[in-house]
Amino acid sequence: MCGIVGYVGQRQAVEVVLDGLRRLEYRGYDSAGVALVAGGALGLAKKAGKLANLESALGDAVLPESTCGIGHTRWATHGVPSDRNAHPHPSADGRIALIHNGIIENFGQLRGELEADGVQFASETDTEVAAQLLGREYALDGDLTEAMTRACARLEGAFTLLAVAADDPDTVVGARRNSPLVVGVGEGEYFLASDVAAFIAYTTDAIELGQDQIVTIGRGGIAIRDFGGDPSEGRPYKVDWDITAAEKGGYDTFMRKEINEQPTAVADTLRGRIDESGQIVLDEVRMSDQDFRDIDKVFIIACGTSYHAGLVTKYAIEHWTRIPCEVELSSEFRYRDPVLDRSTLVISISQSGETMDTLMAVRHAKDQKARVLSISNTVGSTIPRESDAVLYTRAGIEVAVASTKAFLTQLAACYLVGLHLAQTRGIMYADEVKAVLDELVATPDKIATLLKDMEPVRELARESAAFGRVLFIGRHVGYPVALEGALKLKELAYIHAEGFAAGELKHGPISLIDDGTPVIAIVPSPRGRSLLHDKIVSNIQEVKARGAKVIAVCEDGDDITGVHADHVIATPASPTLLAPLLTAVPLQEFAAELATALGKDIDQPRNLAKSVTVE
Ligand code: M6R
Repeated sequence: MCGIVGYVGQRQAVEVVLDGLRRLEYRGYDSAGVALVAGGALGLAKKAGKLANLESALGDAVLPESTCGIGHTRWATHGVPSDRNAHPHPSADGRIALIHNGIIENFGQLRGELEADGVQFASETDTEVAAQLLGREYALDGDLTEAMTRACARLEGAFTLLAVAADDPDTVVGARRNSPLVVGVGEGEYFLASDVAAFIAYTTDAIELGQDQIVTIGRGGIAIRDFGGDPSEGRPYKVDWDITAAEKGGYDTFMRKEINEQPTAVADTLRGRIDESGQIVLDEVRMSDQDFRDIDKVFIIACGTSYHAGLVTKYAIEHWTRIPCEVELSSEFRYRDPVLDRSTLVISISQSGETMDTLMAVRHAKDQKARVLSISNTVGSTIPRESDAVLYTRAGIEVAVASTKAFLTQLAACYLVGLHLAQTRGIMYADEVKAVLDELVATPDKIATLLKDMEPVRELARESAAFGRVLFIGRHVGYPVALEGALKLKELAYIHAEGFAAGELKHGPISLIDDGTPVIAIVPSPRGRSLLHDKIVSNIQEVKARGAKVIAVCEDGDDITGVHADHVIATPASPTLLAPLLTAVPLQEFAAELATALGKDIDQPRNLAKSVTVE
């Protein structure tokens, strides 16, 4: 949450900082601001609303000669989105300006202390406490790095801070605890940002910072220290994607682009992880076969869409390995006192690798001595770094707030983990594993086929827009897909959408159905006349009898469902457990189109941010 950028080099800072903010706007977009330094002056501008508002209000703040500055795009926690609560926040004497991502938990106590000292606050934010504290420390010796070190010693909570000082046009100082911050290293220029997307147009050389580190970028180079003031180091790495990945590439929105990238993203996630004999090779995860054999229980922790990927995975893991598997929302996990020990495998799923709820759950699991395997899309992010093992999805950068390709690649990675567990523990024969893998490897082509014919789905979405409410039902792995379809619609279209286990309808929710209520049913394969299929066909009839308009997402050639549903969205045939890789796709398109029909911004839905770095 919140995007932050800092720059020192030879280029015009305002251009670099605004460019970075444009690429980070998906992290928060309720207000934005910049602070630029040149000739002993600090040019500061901030504005509520999207970045475009700031750009038209820059005025004198621009300082065209400035080659050093910071910028922020906000997702509000403390204080409404407004000009005065927007970042950067200046100190009382106006000599420094500071931006922040995270929450300063002891801000109340610190604010009281500063007010008692006569400091007058100009905003309702927790961030301003850090700015005022830093300003007070800076006034002591005029050394921004020392001042930041002393200020951080007083702060509690999660924070990434960046600061500049009016009389030091060569320096940006950053600090990191529990929130992301990476360094970009160019030719005689340096960048600080929440995410490499901010500087990928200028350099692919990056340095990952560790927990509780302070970094100073200046014309002479970079210095890293820990919160105690001792010299420290980051981990240099090369970013392996380029700027085109962070652009719309001819699509009108990032979400549409990312939906269409799914065949490639899933194929990339599988690539190199299956050997010629059809065995899974997961050497990269840093867990030995013996470690996998020692496991007697699996917990999956995640939030939002990633949680839905976890729910699907439970069915696969329990079926393939016979190991009990529980799935829990990260935000609930540690408050429930779950029973964990050394033989528990905790799988955390997080696209960003930064989600604070999941990070805290991972730390709790580690405290209880469980082994933690993370599935993440962001190399070097905090959650994988703090886990015992990691399997990266290879979706590429996902910019739209609504998760699409990340979801499908998480499923692919989770299936690999489940099969690997079954393989190493000898629960499945090699030919059985290979048969599932063959199906998995065939899926990207099926997704591509499905995506070729989305117009009927869009038409149904436009027709459903007028109703203002959509229900989703499913059974087995279709149930988490129903939850995911409803989440997509809620977050994009701001209408009531809810997913139900189809069998549960009659226990209450069926009373929501009245004339014309759109109900989307996720129907499992009819092959072999499965019990599951018959049951959901009955559920379809139950809702139809009460006036629902049923749209069935079912396997191509499922004539039985075709007879009962009002509309059919056909998906290519697939084994039941792998079907979510296909059935989720039309629901993404449905939500995107319905929200577009209602005039919503599908890349940046209201109140949301891509990386949720607060609890
Ligand atoms: O980065 P993560 O996978 O940890 O994010 C978890 C959720 O915040 C995320 O999936 C969210 O639910 C999406 N916006 C849903 O589309």
